[in-house]
Amino acid sequence: MQLIDGKKISLQLQEEISAEVKKIIASGGKQPHLAAVLVGNDGGSETYVAAKIKACENVGFKSTLIRHDSNVTEAELLATVNKLNADKDIDGYIVQLPLPKHITEQKIIEAVDTAKDVDGFHPINVGRMVLNLPTYISATPNGIVELIKRYKIETIGKHCVVIGRSNIVGSPMSILMAKNNVFANCTVTICHSKTKDIASFTKQADIIICALGKPEFLTADMVKQGAVVIDVGTTRVASAETKSGFKLKGDVKFEEVAPKCSYITPVPGGVGPMTIASLLMNTLLAAKKEIYR
Ligand code: GUN
Repeated sequence: MQLIDGKKISLQLQEEISAEVKKIIASGGKQPHLAAVLVGNDGGSETYVAAKIKACENVGFKSTLIRHDSNVTEAELLATVNKLNADKDIDGYIVQLPLPKHITEQKIIEAVDTAKDVDGFHPINVGRMVLNLPTYISATPNGIVELIKRYKIETIGKHCVVIGRSNIVGSPMSILMAKNNVFANCTVTICHSKTKDIASFTKQADIIICALGKPEFLTADMVKQGAVVIDVGTTRVASAETKSGFKLKGDVKFEEVAPKCSYITPVPGGVGPMTIASLLMNTLLAAKKEIYR
């Protein structure tokens, strides 16, 4: 069994991005600039946005954090989005999700300038991903593909089972894993809350991508010997052992599943750090105008 070290690969990617930023600046270019919009003070969102801002510092990007109270109106949030669209210094930005219930998330996502949509959530960018056109691929699926690439995991003709069909992870992941290239080319099955007997599918899988948000859902009896297991789960569960009072739990019962795997991602330190690295990669693409000119 080999542990997939997302933290190490994320730091490698950050070094590569940092070297590119130095080159851009040395040749008289502008410092890449990422903005993040944070609404309210949900603990998880605060942590993720703080990590994104810190990663910008690590690679030499400029960053801007825009905060709104949780009672911000949809019109006010749309005004912020329009301001960011018009700001020539900002290459890309994200609006951290989830948003409060009184705001229609899709309306905000569709207001983001596609060229600055480094989350890759805009329907045009999702469509471009489906059609194999240059685009921003959303951070978590992109990070997982990068892990598969860097660990040279065999994918061609393999059976990949994705558990979960969210817009952010499960759906794009299933599309990417079925693409006609070296780091995809799988036969893909998507399982979800209405799938009958999920184990009957996972037991046949060469690669399992677990993104349903249920701690320790995937158990050893559901996994074939030698499978690759990618755990996207990051549920906060109360813990007296940590300063923060919680622990991150993956969707995989790691201790019993790991011995059966050829490769497995841990939680934390697997997929999570790659999400950040992917966002930085997309921001660099935006700064270099590689997707939209
Ligand atoms: N909430 C959970 N994951 C993400 C993400 O990748 N981007 C944004 N904007 N919000 C999220």
